[in-house]
Amino acid sequence: MTYEFCYLVSQTFIIVNRVRTRMPGEFVHIAQIFNGDHEGKEVAVRGWIYRSRSSGKLCFIQVRDHSGFMQVTVAKNAVPDADFEGAKKALLESSVMLKGTAVKEPRAPGGFEIQAKEFKVLGVSDNFPITEYQSEEHLLNYRHLWTRSQNLTKIMKVKATILGAAREWFAGNEFFEVTPPIITANACEGGSTLFELNYFGTKAFLSQSAQMYLEALIFSLEKVYSLTPSFRAEKSRTTRHLAEYWHLEGEEAFVGNEENMSIQEALVSAMVTTVAKKNPEELKALGRDPADLLKIVPPFKRISYDDAVKRLQDKGYDFAWGNDLGTNEERSLVEGEDMPIFVKNYPKEVKAFYMRENPENPKVYLCADLLAPEGYGEIIGGSERETDVEKIIERLKAQNTPLDAYQWYLDLRRFGTVQHSGFGLGIERIVRWVCKQEHIRDTIPFPRTINRVNP
Ligand code: 4AD
Ligand code: MG
Repeated sequence: MTYEFCYLVSQTFIIVNRVRTRMPGEFVHIAQIFNGDHEGKEVAVRGWIYRSRSSGKLCFIQVRDHSGFMQVTVAKNAVPDADFEGAKKALLESSVMLKGTAVKEPRAPGGFEIQAKEFKVLGVSDNFPITEYQSEEHLLNYRHLWTRSQNLTKIMKVKATILGAAREWFAGNEFFEVTPPIITANACEGGSTLFELNYFGTKAFLSQSAQMYLEALIFSLEKVYSLTPSFRAEKSRTTRHLAEYWHLEGEEAFVGNEENMSIQEALVSAMVTTVAKKNPEELKALGRDPADLLKIVPPFKRISYDDAVKRLQDKGYDFAWGNDLGTNEERSLVEGEDMPIFVKNYPKEVKAFYMRENPENPKVYLCADLLAPEGYGEIIGGSERETDVEKIIERLKAQNTPLDAYQWYLDLRRFGTVQHSGFGLGIERIVRWVCKQEHIRDTIPFPRTINRVNP
């Protein structure tokens, strides 16, 4: 290439670049205007009408996009006639595309407005069925439209960050992401919450947990994780149970219960500190101080179930050894804690058949639940896995589970078994804590609960 040619190419590149960044009519997001870079310049925005009022020759329209809200003034003499008529008539939630000048306007929310030169209605809206002060039931019936609300939008952004941070953490720690089945023939977490389905004439279930399949995959990949929906036919209405939730599960070869907890605390810390850094505005608007999350750094406290029982009894709880911890007990145990805590080594009666018996105390398993602070309760259940095939068979028999569907799982103990551990984290549980939500249903766009499967 000649020097001249290179020069020509580089100049053209510069010109094209300059034109690109200055091109009037290139769409920007509303939040980009608020930082002042576009002051006095022409901008183009796409979004939906959030509020609107008009007085004779002037319409004040608040437009929202995913990044925020902005006042747009549409003056009769500044836009084509059809645009003005369209703006005047358009109902809330109509979709719009507009061009205009971004100017400072102290009276407008946020201190900026766009003075429109063009205002096109893309999709007109009927009378929007959601207005202020609507019942929870009504909002759930119109969930497909209510997902446009500010709170749900913020929560979904936080959730997207949390999922991204989790995947990034796993990838950075030599875990392979795998894709287990959702339709299964065996229960992982007990028969009472199983959703049954007719699988070409035989009985099958929707997965409660990918764990057993992850266990199979450690024999090739050693450290694996999956993110799948899990299904629980939870028959009671609570603020922390969904019938369908997103389950993040890890499984690790050559790892015992204590190291399993170290993995979980590093993962949880990465998830919540990332969201504190990436979404501070969303968090603050939801009532969560990002500083609370930046404090979540390993190690987390580890107390035994035995200690938990003593603490509860000292606080006056009528709680006997052998009972499972309920919402109130979990809340009490984290009183005064800034970080999540592990409660480990639960009695066998309250946990699942696949956990490893504690060699030092056969009454309990080598397991741990992670409890979120502020009373949000269990966010992770994990354990070391039983490797003794006879013990597993004995437990399945004791609970009257036919062994047929479990033969493949038992094989994992027969062909080169190793010490291994794993855990399951409820994504909506962690989002509920991080976003300070009263009810878990607001951490998922389309909640599935005992009395709702639609929309
Ligand atoms: O404690 P769980 O039942 O443990 C398991 O499923 C294990 N097999 C996981 C594993 O070791 N791979 O469920 C794990 C987590 C809970 O700690 C909770 O966060 C969440 O899943 N979870 C639910 N989240 C929302 N709605 C429900 N109904 C949930 N049930 C469990
Ligand atoms: Mg559990």
